Amino acid sequence: MHCGRPDGAGTSTSLPHPVAGRHLICPPVSRSPRDRRAASGSVGLVPTDSSTAPAAGPSAASSADHAPLPHRRLGRSGLALPAVSLGLWQNFGDADPRATQREIVLHAVDHGVTHLDLANNYGPPGGAAEESLGHLLARELRPVRDELVVTTKAGYRMGPGPYGEGGSRKYLLSSLDASLRRLGLDHVDIFYSHRFDPTTPLEETVGALATAVRSGRARYAGISSYSARRTWEALQVAEQVGVDLVVTQVSYSMLNRWVEEPDPHDPAGASVLDVAGAEGLGVVAFSPLAQGMLTDRYLHGVPDDSRAARGGPLRPAFLSDANLDHVRRLDDLARAHGRSLATTAILWAMRDERVTSVLLGASSTRQLDENLAALDAPPLSAEELAAVDALPADTGINIWASRSSDL
Ligand SMILES: NC(=O)c1ccc[n+]([C@@H]2O[C@H](COP(=O)([O-])OP(=O)(O)OC[C@H]3O[C@@H](n4cnc5c(N)ncnc54)[C@H](OP(=O)(O)O)[C@@H]3O)[C@@H](O)[C@H]2O)c1
Repeated sequence: MHCGRPDGAGTSTSLPHPVAGRHLICPPVSRSPRDRRAASGSVGLVPTDSSTAPAAGPSAASSADHAPLPHRRLGRSGLALPAVSLGLWQNFGDADPRATQREIVLHAVDHGVTHLDLANNYGPPGGAAEESLGHLLARELRPVRDELVVTTKAGYRMGPGPYGEGGSRKYLLSSLDASLRRLGLDHVDIFYSHRFDPTTPLEETVGALATAVRSGRARYAGISSYSARRTWEALQVAEQVGVDLVVTQVSYSMLNRWVEEPDPHDPAGASVLDVAGAEGLGVVAFSPLAQGMLTDRYLHGVPDDSRAARGGPLRPAFLSDANLDHVRRLDDLARAHGRSLATTAILWAMRDERVTSVLLGASSTRQLDENLAALDAPPLSAEELAAVDALPADTGINIWASRSSDL
């Protein structure tokens, strides 16, 4: 459901979302990012670094055929995010072709994906994804930088020694400075504590986020993979130290529903979504395709070029007979309703109005196009929703639990 109007001009408008029935903010229709990049003379600029040179044209988008994506307000904040965001966790390492990276990012931006998500350690090696985006921000994306939300995080291991991971003030702020250098920016739009660190006082971690915002290095602050109890505690601390936490970034998909579950350690037994809804915290749902499991990728084996084949975070154990059986049943159901499994997974993850944006990955522009097309699809049927509810809420794929949300 794109927000475009036939005349291609106009002011901000608000349309009911077909899935959640909520109102979405649609930005004013104007010339596309590609047009503005062209107007500034930056489209097609061939970078001096040959490793970044495009294989083909800058992207397939044209100004005429795409309207802005629907945007949703991030909790109670003034910031709106696109219903679909792009993350650079995988496929943006040094071994991945720079031309493909460039094509994917420019394609996303040209199609209205205004939110690009990073972390210090995305690569491999850590830092490579930020450097890759930094090349684009210095060239093609320079004219549209202020039309983009660029986010980064620190928390997981990035460097050696005691200051190379965690939630300390020293690590978070040094890491943010290094991220800014790699990105070639003077600020990111959101800086996240990437994980809860039980060895550091929350006052210190949240205090570092406050410093990031007050010093102008970040426009907003957020947390990621915090349990309901820790989310609540972080919000309390944020109030004390005088910073607004505007967003929590959490894994959420039809195969991984932990954010809906009551937290046994929360005094009120609330879930992450309960806390976010009550406190006006935006929710960015990452890995809505369960790293590719909720697509046609693994229905007939493990393709050589897939994430699972590369031996990364999609562990072989996740592709168990039981999980693949769930996936096949969901695929049959999706097809019976005339859509792909990926579309179903995206619509499902954004059906709850507390979810601001679903944060996807892609290894090709074809995947990205299929994923963006989900926004035009009809809502999920009661039969589909019931079929998802019949699956186990935890299929053992939440690799972030033991390192953050279970702590
Ligand atoms: N805060 C955190 O701790 C955290 C953790 C993880 C991720 N994230 C964020 O979330 C983003 C997305 O995570 P994710 O990459 O795991 O998300 P995802 O969307 O669940 O998985 C993306 C993968 O699914 C496959 N795929 C995507 N669209 C497809 C399609 N239409 N058809 C077939 N296969 C398709 C691709 O796999 P192939 O590569 O095999 O083609 C792609 O790389 C990350 O980039 C990062 O920004 C945050």
